[in-house]
Amino acid sequence: MMKYLAAALLSALMISPAMAQNCCAKKGGQEKSCSRMIQTNVPERPAGQQDMLAFRAPKLQTVRIGIIGLGMRGVSAVDRLSVIEGTDVVALCDLHQDRAEKSNAILEKNGRHSAALYYGSEDAWKKLVERPDLDLIYIVTDWQTHVEMAKYAMEQGKHVAVEVPAAFSMDDIWTLIDTSERTRKHCMMLENCVYDFFEMTTLNMKNKGLLGDIVYAEGGYIHNLEEFWPYYEGDWRMDYNIKHRGDVYPTHGMGPAAQILDLHRGDKMNVLVSMDTTPRNLPAYLEEVRGVKDAKVANGQHTMTMIRTEKGRTIFIHHDVTTHRPYSRQYNVAGTKGYASKYPAEHYAFAGTDLKEAGMPAVDDLSTHSWVSPEMQKELYEKYKHPITRELEKRAKEVGGHGGMDFIMDYRLIYCLRNGLPLDMDVYDMAEWCSLIPLSQISLEHGFAPVEVPDFTRGAWQRLQGYHHYMIGD
Ligand SMILES: NC(=O)c1ccc[n+]([C@@H]2O[C@H](COP(=O)([O-])OP(=O)(O)OC[C@H]3O[C@@H](n4cnc5c(N)ncnc54)[C@H](O)[C@@H]3O)[C@@H](O)[C@H]2O)c1
Repeated sequence: MMKYLAAALLSALMISPAMAQNCCAKKGGQEKSCSRMIQTNVPERPAGQQDMLAFRAPKLQTVRIGIIGLGMRGVSAVDRLSVIEGTDVVALCDLHQDRAEKSNAILEKNGRHSAALYYGSEDAWKKLVERPDLDLIYIVTDWQTHVEMAKYAMEQGKHVAVEVPAAFSMDDIWTLIDTSERTRKHCMMLENCVYDFFEMTTLNMKNKGLLGDIVYAEGGYIHNLEEFWPYYEGDWRMDYNIKHRGDVYPTHGMGPAAQILDLHRGDKMNVLVSMDTTPRNLPAYLEEVRGVKDAKVANGQHTMTMIRTEKGRTIFIHHDVTTHRPYSRQYNVAGTKGYASKYPAEHYAFAGTDLKEAGMPAVDDLSTHSWVSPEMQKELYEKYKHPITRELEKRAKEVGGHGGMDFIMDYRLIYCLRNGLPLDMDVYDMAEWCSLIPLSQISLEHGFAPVEVPDFTRGAWQRLQGYHHYMIGD
């Protein structure tokens, strides 16, 4: 009888026995006692291996770089990295010879020497990675190649910077964590959106106490990719969206939310639940543009993921790459004293008295229910501009890359490597932000069930308190 009841419960919850066995294995917090929570396997840290929190590598006077992947995104990385002081772009790799040569022409335009070129086969990149004269491998290839390249590069003694998302399965996420911990090499995901101007200003406002305690953060990737689909090498992005359900591109939304909530620096994600809309526009596109009738598309039209943290705060992340609507990263942050909202227009709202305390003028007409005036907002931008933005924004806007944030990301990566500082984003940030990909899929495929988000630091999430950009002298 008991056996029958257990089987009936499993089928009602649509949870595979392997997962169900893990349910409620842990006791403790409120979320963990939830009888429906699905847990994934958390591999034990191998003996003798240490975490990479606030990890400092020896200083590099010049950062010698090899770049793999010179498609739509990669060429602009070549351009940015070759105008930053203290870099040497030593080697370039792509499947295609003409893309490698085009990137060499960019180096020449920027007054740099030509790089050694690797091309023509799927594994030519290995020869690049094996070069002894490289410190950093910068990976800008399609999603499926990231993990193999990043792992091999760390094993060959190189630091790694890898485009978003770095990893797509829990096994791959743990592989990158273990490889980084074992080899003592940085593994940073190239999440540029954390450096955008409004997000940096808002982070600085939070650091200065203007927003009070953050209680909620929202983010997402809303971008109709119709005009881009034909240009991805070998159709990799369409292929992934057709085959995979879940939020397959969560890091642009997660990055700024995670930093303002101090994830694994005093708080951590505990549980997520996802829900999605039946895909409509992508099957229609496939029929109209490619003549594919009744295309089976796994990815939902709009995927929403709700997350609750250990400190009882919430995160809401969106993904939609097919609806005909304007671009948005849905950046909204609520604190006990203020609210920031970026899309469709940038706005702040504050409890009126707080601005008086901060010494700002003309606050009498403010309330928590209305946005601050455009004049007030201009003053706030200036007063609370993040020190990194203040230092770099002019140059960032000249060099460009999504309005300048890409330049700031690369600049900070090189600055930290040259000064032996912890990087702005560590391997656990990569893990947390990418984990929405497999975990949202599990939630969706098990009746929108709650899924536990593991502590990727394996016990060290409270050692650092508060998100911090390290500077010389820290
Ligand atoms: N952060 C951002 O704002 C942003 C924007 C666009 C793209 N991206 C990310 O950048 C990455 C690349 O995207 P893209 O739009 O440039 O794609 P793309 O298809 O235009 O370029 C990928 C390139 O990788 C090369 N490549 C593939 N396999 C290779 C291999 N085995 N060896 C050498 N080269 C190989 C291809 O030849 C191609 O030139 C993706 O991870 C994407 O998500 C990030």
